[in-house]
Amino acid sequence: MTSSFAGKRIVVGVTGSIAAFKVAGWVSALAKDEALVDVVMTAAAQHFVTPLTFSALTGRAVYSDMFEAEREGVISHIGLAREADCILIAPATAHTIARLAHGLADDLLSTTVLAARVPVIVCPAMNVKMFEHAATRHNIERLTSLGYRVIDPDSGLMACGEEGAGRLPEWEQVAEYVLRGITRPDLAGQRVLVTAGPTREPYDPARFISNRSSGKMGYALARTAFRRGAEVTLISGPTALQAPAGVEMVRVSTALEMYEAVMERCDHASIIVKAAAVADFRFARQHRQKVKKDSSELTMELVLNPDILKELGKRDDRERWLLIGFAAESQNIEQEGRKKLVNKHLDLIAVNDISSDGAGFAVDTNQITLIDSQRSVPLIHTSKEKTADLLWDHVVANKLLKPAV
Ligand code: CTP
Repeated sequence: MTSSFAGKRIVVGVTGSIAAFKVAGWVSALAKDEALVDVVMTAAAQHFVTPLTFSALTGRAVYSDMFEAEREGVISHIGLAREADCILIAPATAHTIARLAHGLADDLLSTTVLAARVPVIVCPAMNVKMFEHAATRHNIERLTSLGYRVIDPDSGLMACGEEGAGRLPEWEQVAEYVLRGITRPDLAGQRVLVTAGPTREPYDPARFISNRSSGKMGYALARTAFRRGAEVTLISGPTALQAPAGVEMVRVSTALEMYEAVMERCDHASIIVKAAAVADFRFARQHRQKVKKDSSELTMELVLNPDILKELGKRDDRERWLLIGFAAESQNIEQEGRKKLVNKHLDLIAVNDISSDGAGFAVDTNQITLIDSQRSVPLIHTSKEKTADLLWDHVVANKLLKPAV
């Protein structure tokens, strides 16, 4: 499958921090994904990693000296800025952050950034005391107010021996911000609330009922909505998945907790997607102590959980949201899906054909039919991530979005 990075021009600005070696791995990942990576190094960066390292990884020239670049007739700061789809500055030292915050333009990287009109992502990496210094905090705030995306560093043990915030995050996290930078923002201004994963209904401290949902479809919807420019909240039942970068994450366990979490946040949303496999029942009584096998309690009484989606569909302010449900069906897909679309007052339902191989619970692919009041569109059998993008394509192409505010 073609990578979303293929053919995109990414300027990677490398500045003078020991973390520069880590960015060699990032540049290698981008090059493998067929991005066209132009590395621009500051003079200080070259004390840590040589330009040859980056040119070997990208198969392209590496730039550092502004005047040399002009003289040789190779690409200039204006050319780099004009051709870039996105600029990633990593590692960004306190010094580079200060220069960018004040619009200084005294080397190739700073002039390129000033001349560019594309998303600029800044990954600070420095000693924790330097990162926490009021001067650096002010400069970062200023960068944010100028429209730069500053990514919080990770915390941990640093090369200098101190512990705290200042380490570069993992590439998988940063890559999501770069993808947002290069993806058409057709969900910009939308506030998307996604639910994902199973719920877990406890019986006693040791036991519960749940289902086989992995959460992969919901997480893919949250991730792709973020890439397409939305502000995203993900309410997730227990899963083994990492929180998607850039997304507000709310972890819950039971259906009642998910209900509360959705009701607390739905006022803020413009799109609600209920991809979670909510347990239909919970135990009428939950035991504080573990139930022994020789106890007299061999019958477990269940009560119905609220249908969160149906509750949303019934509300007076229902029209404020684009309301999207999911359903798992093994036969009469269209008929069963349409029934739920109407019963739950949905705008769109994604019906999962769980009778087909490689679809449904715990696998990476899905076979979905999208049903709205006008049409029924079977999607190709593909990855959950591609399925998520096709769902957003459908929403945008058929003008189902509520006006962005
Ligand atoms: N849903 C919900 N709250 C529940 C149950 C389901 O919000 N207590 C939502 C799910 O998140 C999903 C949709 O409703 O979006 C699924 O509807 P449902 O009628 O439960 O479909 P199926 O799971 O296919 O159930 P059934 O076995 O009744 O066909």
